[in-house]
Amino acid sequence: MCGIVGILGAGPVAGQIVEALKRLEYRGYDSAGIATLESGRLARRRAEGKLKNLELRLLEEPLRGAVGIGHTRWATHGKPTETNAHPHASHRLAVVHNGIIENFRELREELTRKGHAFSTETDSEVVAHLVTDLMDGGLPPHEAVMAALPQLKGAFALAFLFDRQGDLLIGARRGAPLAVGYGEGEMYLGSDALALAPFTDTIAYLEEGDCVVLSRAGAAYHDASGRVVNRAKQKSLASAFMIDKGNYRHFMAKEIHEQAEVVGRTLAHYLDMSEGAVRLPFDVPFDLAGVERLTISACGTAYMAGLTAKYWFERIARVPVDIDVASEFRYREAPMTRGGVTIVVSQSGETADTLASLRYAKQCGQNIVGVVNVATSTMARESDVVALTLAGPEIGVASTKAFTCQLAVLACLALAIGRARGTLARDAERRFVDELIALPGLIAEAMGVEPKIEAVARDLSRVRDVLYLGRGTSYPLALEGALKLKELSYIHAEGYAAGELKHGPIALIDEAMPVIVLAPNDAVFEKTVSNMQEVAARGGRIILIGDGDAAKAASVDVEAVIAMPVVAPTFAPIVYAIPIQLIAYHTAVFMGKDADQPRNLAKSVTVE
Ligand code: G6P
Repeated sequence: MCGIVGILGAGPVAGQIVEALKRLEYRGYDSAGIATLESGRLARRRAEGKLKNLELRLLEEPLRGAVGIGHTRWATHGKPTETNAHPHASHRLAVVHNGIIENFRELREELTRKGHAFSTETDSEVVAHLVTDLMDGGLPPHEAVMAALPQLKGAFALAFLFDRQGDLLIGARRGAPLAVGYGEGEMYLGSDALALAPFTDTIAYLEEGDCVVLSRAGAAYHDASGRVVNRAKQKSLASAFMIDKGNYRHFMAKEIHEQAEVVGRTLAHYLDMSEGAVRLPFDVPFDLAGVERLTISACGTAYMAGLTAKYWFERIARVPVDIDVASEFRYREAPMTRGGVTIVVSQSGETADTLASLRYAKQCGQNIVGVVNVATSTMARESDVVALTLAGPEIGVASTKAFTCQLAVLACLALAIGRARGTLARDAERRFVDELIALPGLIAEAMGVEPKIEAVARDLSRVRDVLYLGRGTSYPLALEGALKLKELSYIHAEGYAAGELKHGPIALIDEAMPVIVLAPNDAVFEKTVSNMQEVAARGGRIILIGDGDAAKAASVDVEAVIAMPVVAPTFAPIVYAIPIQLIAYHTAVFMGKDADQPRNLAKSVTVE
């Protein structure tokens, strides 16, 4: 998954393209490139690595053209070198691509036989040659693109720039998002509205199979069958959000610290605070009282949110929950009953595996609830119910505020289903709602552990392996803690259910390996204390994240206590997420790693 941009501008566009690419770096940052028309002729600048390398290249060799395309890459086919960087070009055109062309080998062989010379290892280059071949055969640009699209297998968004065509850009979408922006005498293409927010808030979205031909006067849309169609303009909210780091060193730090606010905002959307009741902000087109079983599918951190919510749905709403990572679920061929409910959880709403799970469940006749952060995303469009998280744009690649907002929404859904099914009495609902309302304040209070965590992180930055343990809802959080630490600091970390310790990982315990124990003062606290004793007895180094007084009373020999505010146990993970995020962040910063853009990762994974 990469980010693509195209601009038909009133003046030189290179600066604007770079500005838009900065907002798309969350999609990948292995290389970046740009192509413009210089006196009508195609010119490219590309650079390996992050966008700043391309910016330096542009300082040395500026581009002044008024029409151009740009790309930021997450490498799939071929190493992240300059040669493999987009745009790919021929004597006729340049193209940027997000997605995967599955039949690129066949197409490349065929085109090579026809005399085309390939210079990269990418799947994308085949698109440049295919359209060129059709143009060489006499087709004008838009007909060549439209003739090429049906020959491509896979998922993609594309933007084309043509030699000697100063008032033309062509975009196409199948399986990856593409937005068209309308400006004052300027037109734009972008992987999302956020990329275009500095220039316009008037956006239209391409639908599956669409192709769009842009000139400065406007856009002409064609659907998959080639018919001219209309795609409605809408006002994007993206520009309303400030995309800067404020006073923070990294977006991740800013996003961690925003959580009291965004969790509060999300809860306010789902709760009637004065009544002490859940009030879902959407109509549900199926009977919540009839929900007999839930299936949850998601990837990465969103999966951890789903796994946490399994405990809530089962305990509060008494509904059995099946949950699987989406890359497994989509191929598992799980039997599903018609009329059942599947929840997909995704920050971006574009993750390929989660989207495939959604489509599989839909095919099986399930009602789809999409818990997503991007209201205009594909998953939002394809869900029967869109349960928005109001986290605002999340730029740090490792998810933080989107995670706690997903938890907040899932908690409200558990209460709503519990109420509808009659498993949640009115007074219990009021008590749970009060506990939820207290969360933003507790999150703000939990930020007070940061100085202590900085000290812990300094020690962690010197170790090779870390084990995270937790029981109940702290178990998914232990998995999330380990995921966060490994993705940001590259330290090997594992999360385990504390009760499983004795079935294997206890063999790893020695004085070199810190064990981070998540132990809110809940029903299984004493059990977790026993597990800590097992670690202590073997000389393990325990870092306890727990409610300070309970931790003291437990009298286990611990190396450090991260003393958390007293939190009612059910929704404790929404507060205990803070220290695990801070641990990963500060450890990465001590080690000199890039907390916002960890190596090899990308924020939006729109490939399998
Ligand atoms: C990537 C990101 C993770 C995220 C996961 C799922 O791996 O680096 O932070 O949790 O994708 O993304 P989604 O947008 O579906 O929540």
